[in-house]
Formats: sequence, structure tokens, C-alpha cells
Amino acid sequence: MDSSRPSERPWTERPFPGDRPLRIGALLSGKGRGTNLQALIDSCAEGRISGEIAVVISTTPGAPALERAHRHGIPSRTFPGKSYADGEALDDAILACLNDHRVDLICLAGYMRKAGQRLCEAYRWRMMNIHPGLIPAFCGQGLYGGKVHAAVLEYGAKVSGVTVHFATEEYDAGPIILQKCVPVAEDDTPETLAARILPVEHAAYSEAVQLFAEGRLEVLDGRRVRILPKRG
Ligand code: GAR
Repeated sequence: MDSSRPSERPWTERPFPGDRPLRIGALLSGKGRGTNLQALIDSCAEGRISGEIAVVISTTPGAPALERAHRHGIPSRTFPGKSYADGEALDDAILACLNDHRVDLICLAGYMRKAGQRLCEAYRWRMMNIHPGLIPAFCGQGLYGGKVHAAVLEYGAKVSGVTVHFATEEYDAGPIILQKCVPVAEDDTPETLAARILPVEHAAYSEAVQLFAEGRLEVLDGRRVRILPKRG
């Protein structure tokens, strides 16, 4: 065989071996409700995720998510964005906290800031995001939360849904782990569509995190995610 030829097999990476309970760091910004965080907390408590939320990190003091962490006895830390010289300094503080808590996987759960390069590099294929729409449509900078649903309705799309993907330096552009479709009704408003999509988000996020916890996610060529069969 000509060894100078590039291999035709894709370059693969498995970010977590699935040989120990997963330690999750949840990262939030703004005053979001934190229902995705709550779904992850409940899934860990009820055994649907083989792991625990090791720390909840918010960049907004007084965020409801911090209260959720407190109620469940989960350590939480606040790093107010304004207290740091720039995004990199904020990321460094967050990274140190993630290291202190030996976090394997970051779950962005309503994190509307862009994760900086150092955070992305340190947690390459170990940082997930949930988006309330079907990427690559209706996503990117400025399209988050209710704005996604308003854009879907304005465009006249007949389906929307949920995407769980690995977060990278670019908004909503990393390898897709799971997608679920949700039909759009003729008389939907952004609020009714959001209400139909939210429980699907909760289930999809836990499902994706459990696939990671079981060591069943493999990233091919830095682009596609292969879900490996369940072992034994
Ligand atoms: C969720 O709908 C989540 O998908 C969205 O923010 C909401 C947070 O709700 N995230 C994005 O749009 C990120 N691009 P929650 O605080 O109840 O989990």
C-alpha cells in the first residue's frame, strides 16, 4: 500500500471513554429560567444520566439557575461578565473553576455569550449546547430563545425542533449530536411553539448527555458525530 496517500478513514475522536460517572459543569448567562439545567439535575438524580452536576456557573448574579443549584445542594459560582477585563479573562476564571471541580463535560444551558477560544480548546468536544431550532436554519448570532421561534414563524417553516451539538468558537456551528423535529401549527405564536418545543429540549439534552456519559459519541473529521452502539 502507498503510505504517502492520505488515509481514507475519517479522523475520529472519542471525547469521553464512559468508564466512570460523568462530572458535568453547567454554564448559564442572563436571567434565564434554567429549565434545561433543572432537566439535567432531575435526569442525574433519577439515573437517566450516569453522572452528576459538579458545579453550576453563571455570569449573571442572582440568576434563577443559582437558586435551583442551591435547592439541590449543587455548588455554584458566579463570574459577573462586567468584572473581567475581557472575554478571555472571564473564560480563564471559568476554566479554573471547571478544573477545580474536575468537570468532564460543560453543558451550556441558556449561555448566550460566545465561548472564547481558550475555553473551546480546553473543552473540545466536551462542551454541549442546546438550540431551540433545527440547525443550520434559524441559528447564529442574535438568534436564540424566543427569537428563534419568531423567525421560524415569520419564515413560514412547517417544522422546527431541537438541536444538541458540540459547541465551538462559532455560534451554533459545531458537530450535531441529536436533532428532534416538532411540527409548527397554523395558529402558533412564538410562545405556543416555544411551549411545545421546551419539553423536547429537556428530553433531548438528557439523551445526548447520557450518550456522552456512556462513551458512545465519536466525532469524525471534526464535523460529524457518530453514535456508537450500546455496549454489552
Ligand atoms: C432554551 O430554549 C434554550 O434552547 C435556549 O435558551 C432557552 C433557555 O431556557 N438557548 C439558546 O437559544 C442558545 N442558542 P431555560 O433557561 O429554561 O433552559
